[in-house]
Amino acid sequence: MALLEARDISKIYKTGPTTYIQVLYDISLSINQGEFLSITGKSGSGKSTLMHILGCLDTPTSGEYYLEDHNVAPMNSDQLAHIRNSFIGFVFQRFHLLPDLTAQENVALPHLYAGNQEQESMHRAAQLLAKLGLEQRMNHYPNELSGGEQQRVAIARALINDPAIILADEPTGNLDSATGKKIMELFSELNKQHHVTIIIVTHDPVLAAQTDRIITLLDGHLVDDKKQGAI
Ligand SMILES: Nc1ncnc2c1ncn2[C@@H]1O[C@H](COP(=O)(O)OP(=O)(O)OP(=O)(O)O)[C@@H](O)[C@H]1O
Ligand SMILES: [Mg+2]
Repeated sequence: MALLEARDISKIYKTGPTTYIQVLYDISLSINQGEFLSITGKSGSGKSTLMHILGCLDTPTSGEYYLEDHNVAPMNSDQLAHIRNSFIGFVFQRFHLLPDLTAQENVALPHLYAGNQEQESMHRAAQLLAKLGLEQRMNHYPNELSGGEQQRVAIARALINDPAIILADEPTGNLDSATGKKIMELFSELNKQHHVTIIIVTHDPVLAAQTDRIITLLDGHLVDDKKQGAI
């Protein structure tokens, strides 16, 4: 079975006492362990909504969603949190680093929360930061780092609990195009070397073209799902 399988997912938001807006229509997709893909489409097409459902931050209004054979759609918020922490690392456009913690402490935090010893978490954080080329920046605070460095710290943080999946929503949106390209290369490397499944949400077709498979949304409909040759 696929790592991640969505069947006929729809999402309807209630916008007033009697008004509703449907933002996803019957989305079906299947993603295997080790894929590197992007979800693309114009602003408002439903990319983040779909990503939130795939990342167990939200549930669909109808349809089925399975993550490693777990039936996610009927889960309550505690069950969703548990499955998120077990399988998924998130990377966001605005990095979301804690300003009062150093790079190393930011990366170590989810590992500590998972119940590990501080020394072990800090050691693991240091190893990951070194792997991402930040050995000289471990004791810097977020405001002492460039945007690209902050995003690498956020990626290290997403990786620290060994997730099967990384979900990144516009991860290069706050970076210049050269730095953005480097971050995409880093994702590709993590995918190829460590077989982490990586799903990038982007409205930028140039970035989407750097991934192996492109899923396109248009007004809440999945209109294209194509694999590309190896890059
Ligand atoms: N909580 C909500 N309540 C009502 N409507 C919502 C809610 N969240 C999102 N929407 C609407 O759903 C549609 C899809 O939003 P979504 O954030 O998924 O788009 P997107 O493709 O990620 O756009 P962008 O590229 O601008 O980030 C939009 O029209 C948005 O206004
Ligand atoms: Mg979005």
